[in-house]
Amino acid sequence: MTYLITGAHGFIGTHLTRECLQAGIRVIAYDLVRPRWPEPGLEGAVVVEGDILEPTRLIETMQAHKVQVVIHLVAYGAGDVGREIGLVKAGDYNPLKGAEVNVLGALTVFEAADVLWDMVYVKDAAHAFFLAAQVKTPEHRIFNVTGHTARPKDMVEVVKRLVPGVHVEVVPGGEPVYPYGLPGKRADRELGFRPRYSLEEAAQDYLEDLRNRMKA
Ligand SMILES: NC(=O)c1ccc[n+]([C@@H]2O[C@H](COP(=O)([O-])OP(=O)(O)OC[C@H]3O[C@@H](n4cnc5c(N)ncnc54)[C@H](O)[C@@H]3O)[C@@H](O)[C@H]2O)c1
Repeated sequence: MTYLITGAHGFIGTHLTRECLQAGIRVIAYDLVRPRWPEPGLEGAVVVEGDILEPTRLIETMQAHKVQVVIHLVAYGAGDVGREIGLVKAGDYNPLKGAEVNVLGALTVFEAADVLWDMVYVKDAAHAFFLAAQVKTPEHRIFNVTGHTARPKDMVEVVKRLVPGVHVEVVPGGEPVYPYGLPGKRADRELGFRPRYSLEEAAQDYLEDLRNRMKA
């Protein structure tokens, strides 16, 4: 297993890195600064100097090292290291910087870590509306319509299988994505809604639609 630990050279990160290495886990130590002094037991970690606010560097690091687990410990203004290296001086806390690193930075890490998406095929979404319109006296009036949990790279693999030779890559940026995890049981119970298309079937169907439109 390979873990990437952000803030690996911080107070908690140092101990976590050591424990992971002892357990035989490969650790990519991603931090703004290099370790300040030799820390016994940390020699085996792969040190990557980087800012969590740099999505490209984060993604490239995760891909290059085939990272499977990300543990996010970076913080601005929380721990000792921030103060020691001059990120935050006593009485000099910058709330905007705090929001940037602690909020936007965390989002950047989660997005780079290939968060799971909830993918609902357009025909399944349309079908959910159709079903909702058939229910005469619904117990509830609001429903989550959920599809399949997948990562962007799963979708890329599906497209590559269906269109041999196509070049597709996942790059940072773009629209915000809908996180997975919304409960969809109510739509199942009251509307009888379940996605009818698997990820692969949805991609296949969409491609056929596109091809037909191009022919027309
Ligand atoms: N230390 C505690 O007592 C304690 C208690 C409860 C919760 N926590 C939480 O645990 C987490 C880690 O705390 P800590 O004490 O190890 O913090 P720390 O300040 O010791 O370490 C944070 C690390 O993040 C790095 N860093 C800061 N900005 C960065 C950026 N933009 N890009 C990359 N690296 C960056 C710093 O160089 C530092 O090594 C924080 O979220 C903190 O709020 C800490």
